[in-house]
Amino acid sequence: MKDILQEFDLLKENPGAGTGTTWLECGGEILESVSPIDGQILGRVRQASGANYDEVAVRASTAFEEWRMVPAPKRGDIVRQIGNAVRTRKQELSTMLSLEVGKIRPEAEGEVQEMIDMCDFAVGQSRMLYGLSMHSERPRHRMYEQYHPLGPIGVITAFNFPVAVWAWNAMIGLIAGDTVVWKPSSKAALTALATAKIIGHVLHENDLPEGILNVVIGSRDEVGEKLIADRRLPLISATGSVAMGRRVGQVVASRLGKSLLELGGNNAVIVSSKADLDLAVRAILFGAVGTAGQRCTSIRRIIAHKEIFNPLTEALIEAYKQLVIGNPLENGVLVGPLIDAEAVENMQRALEEIKSQGGRVLYGGEILSGGIYDVGTYVTPCICEVSNDCPIVQEETFAPILYMIPYETLEEAIQYHNDVPQGLSSAIFTTDLRESEIFLSHLGSDCGIANVNIGTSGAEIGGAFGGEKDTGGGRESGSDAWKIYMRRQTCTINWSREMPLAQGIEFGIE
Ligand code: SIN
Repeated sequence: MKDILQEFDLLKENPGAGTGTTWLECGGEILESVSPIDGQILGRVRQASGANYDEVAVRASTAFEEWRMVPAPKRGDIVRQIGNAVRTRKQELSTMLSLEVGKIRPEAEGEVQEMIDMCDFAVGQSRMLYGLSMHSERPRHRMYEQYHPLGPIGVITAFNFPVAVWAWNAMIGLIAGDTVVWKPSSKAALTALATAKIIGHVLHENDLPEGILNVVIGSRDEVGEKLIADRRLPLISATGSVAMGRRVGQVVASRLGKSLLELGGNNAVIVSSKADLDLAVRAILFGAVGTAGQRCTSIRRIIAHKEIFNPLTEALIEAYKQLVIGNPLENGVLVGPLIDAEAVENMQRALEEIKSQGGRVLYGGEILSGGIYDVGTYVTPCICEVSNDCPIVQEETFAPILYMIPYETLEEAIQYHNDVPQGLSSAIFTTDLRESEIFLSHLGSDCGIANVNIGTSGAEIGGAFGGEKDTGGGRESGSDAWKIYMRRQTCTINWSREMPLAQGIEFGIE
């Protein structure tokens, strides 16, 4: 394998702001990209300063004037080429992703595939930016609504899905006629630059203006705060913690902009006494342990009927014992490292709280040591028994900790299920039609995503992705999520020689 930086024409030190083809002379501090796999420094990024951010925002605004004039299906054709370019670089980009954020290879490849799928979806959507037409109450009038490009938009992404979540927003933004200013997590800076380089080639080959897709890597104070307060950006889409989302929501609302927030999850699975337990164990394993428990959609709580509580717990512990934890690039490894030392500390702090609140650690939770483990980021995924009223159950700890909570009636299970501030993803395992219908009804799960006999994570791009309550209410990716990236306009045309008013109002001089 060539050096991974060379694969993307990246250097040991790279400017943190640019368009994929041209890069700015950046004035911010140096950021080191450290691999959680073994602590090696993968490369460095000279971060953007506030002034660099402004240059990027000007370019994005100027490029918007031109990009919005390209017909939507032609914009779709550019997105098709982006998808094809990523297809040819899937291996390299997923290796970069594994190295920088520690995802195991199959999950890293899955994430890049998700970007490719998103491009395909967006190409189709580019011919389906449908408005509605409605019958006017006035004679010889026509009424309809249409969607126009919105403007340059800001997209803030988290470390755990640097490529896919970016694509959910950026590919739809592009076909909508928007230009994009992307502020990726500084924990996935090189992956973002590599993605921008792939896309930059496509834009360059098509002679498109600079500034359609921009990356700006910088600190919260220098760049993040400027971006969210920037009136030139009518929409800010932000993925991350609830605390981050509250700040983004407040600042964007204070300038009456639009925000699309995809924040924390505290996702639960109800396992009924009528569940297919084998299916449930397989799904819970991926949902709780996949991406080392660092997905917004990771399973954090199992609410299990008391009749199957013990066999389910035992089966899960048996499955956890067989997990291979190690270098995510090696075949057979299912659990890679946590993103950094801070994540490990947060996990340990949560485990202390669980114990002090009367919970019991049934399996795992250790920090591993020896060989590659000495870097300090590898942990054993953990299963704990807790009662639903332990305060820690209310929190999302971004680590592989699974709470086992017993229940007696479905009503009680649903009450426990909804009794957290977050509302992203949810599932029930049951073979009883009534139970699954109750769960999916308005009496059931209060989450943005509700599944039956599958886990909470690994959403398909075709549906709208997002959640309720502290998860922020945003929807991105598929379905009609494209609408927020456009400006809706209702039009009424009078083709008569009269001037009737709506609601029958008479107003005029004789
Ligand atoms: C995430 O956004 O963290 C995960 C998405 C998924 O699991 O579908």
